Amino acid sequence: MNTITKTTTKIKSIFAPTNGMYGPYGGMYVPPVLENKLLHLAEVFEKHRGTPDFEQEFAYYLKNFVGRPSPLYYAHRLSQHIGSKIYLKREDLNHTGSHKINNTIGQILLARRMGATEIVAETGAGQHGVATATAAALFGMKCKIFMGSKDAERQKMNVSRIKLLGAEMVLTHAGRGTLKDAVDAALGYYIEHLDVFYLLGSQVGPHPYPTMVGYFQSVIGKEARKQFLEGEGRLPDNLFACVGGGSNAIGLFTDFLLDENVRIFGAEGGGEGPVFGKTAATLSMGKPGVFQGTYSYALSDEAGEVYPTASIAAGLDYPGVSPQHALLKDRKRASYHLVTDAEAIEAYLLLSKLEGIIPAIESSHALALAAKLLKNKKDEISIINLSGRGDKDVERDLM
Ligand SMILES: Cc1ncc(COP(=O)(O)O)c(C=O)c1O
Repeated sequence: MNTITKTTTKIKSIFAPTNGMYGPYGGMYVPPVLENKLLHLAEVFEKHRGTPDFEQEFAYYLKNFVGRPSPLYYAHRLSQHIGSKIYLKREDLNHTGSHKINNTIGQILLARRMGATEIVAETGAGQHGVATATAAALFGMKCKIFMGSKDAERQKMNVSRIKLLGAEMVLTHAGRGTLKDAVDAALGYYIEHLDVFYLLGSQVGPHPYPTMVGYFQSVIGKEARKQFLEGEGRLPDNLFACVGGGSNAIGLFTDFLLDENVRIFGAEGGGEGPVFGKTAATLSMGKPGVFQGTYSYALSDEAGEVYPTASIAAGLDYPGVSPQHALLKDRKRASYHLVTDAEAIEAYLLLSKLEGIIPAIESSHALALAAKLLKNKKDEISIINLSGRGDKDVERDLM
């Protein structure tokens, strides 16, 4: 049985960031024009985090606008099917349909304190674009969303939602028209318009973004831990989450990092399999390097050039990853696995039919990994982070 592990502050300091560094990973690799801006943002974040004024306002919107806490749901038919007890953390039930809204609310409250009037963001699956456009509408701010052309095509519903919410959609046709290209375009705009607030949607990019995003998403694991302890009277054996940039995963994992008996698994967008150019499994197949402002794992060649990526899930189709997950991998605190498109589709169909819950194709990667690793582990109890709902994927006809 998994009891609560005694923790020490020494262990804690291994995984928590120090000035934006996670061991050797993280940092701020940006042109000098951006440096002052990011240092100021880091200062503002540190000034407000943990203050009653900021935390109460954040908690207010999470509860009354987002609808938190999200349920921790015992998936009895899925559990029966796999032969192991499984709970789903229902981030799909949040307003706008995914975990992304937690982070956008946190960052937009900072933007307001900084006097920003325009918000810009990148999006892959469109969920961060929708969440950002929603938060901007909530506070009457101008908003511009950058998206790759391939992603706009495969996540049409979210493009319509972003426009409906009053934001301007900027499509980029560079590269493969995926998340990497959207980040490049948004960063380019930011460098030329330093008065805007760049609301980054995953645990990537230069300091202070990984620290901020990790902090705002940690509400997922805080709730899950409390809900699980209330329901089971002990800690879970395993945690599962999909990893694109890494924000929903770190959100679930953070509050369990010091519980050594809780095993932690990340599911990456494996695309067609372990072949460069046909996959987006960055931690499984990449190596350390600087990419889009941070030092972490990246899918890059000997010369440091990033490989094109491929994944059925727009939200996982990215050659970089969070510096904190890089550290967790190196320290063997978490393990990261390649999940193919075909495996993810199978899990997407399975959950829909077994539980009446249509998961996002991103989240389906976590479900697929859990289904594989938990087969007949009847004494174990696990939490899978259901990072988003699959409405956006329905018209793709993945059957
Ligand atoms: C539903 C959903 N899950 C997961 C992800 C992956 O992002 P992250 O790794 O930052 O959680 C996305 C990204 O768009 C998403 O929309």
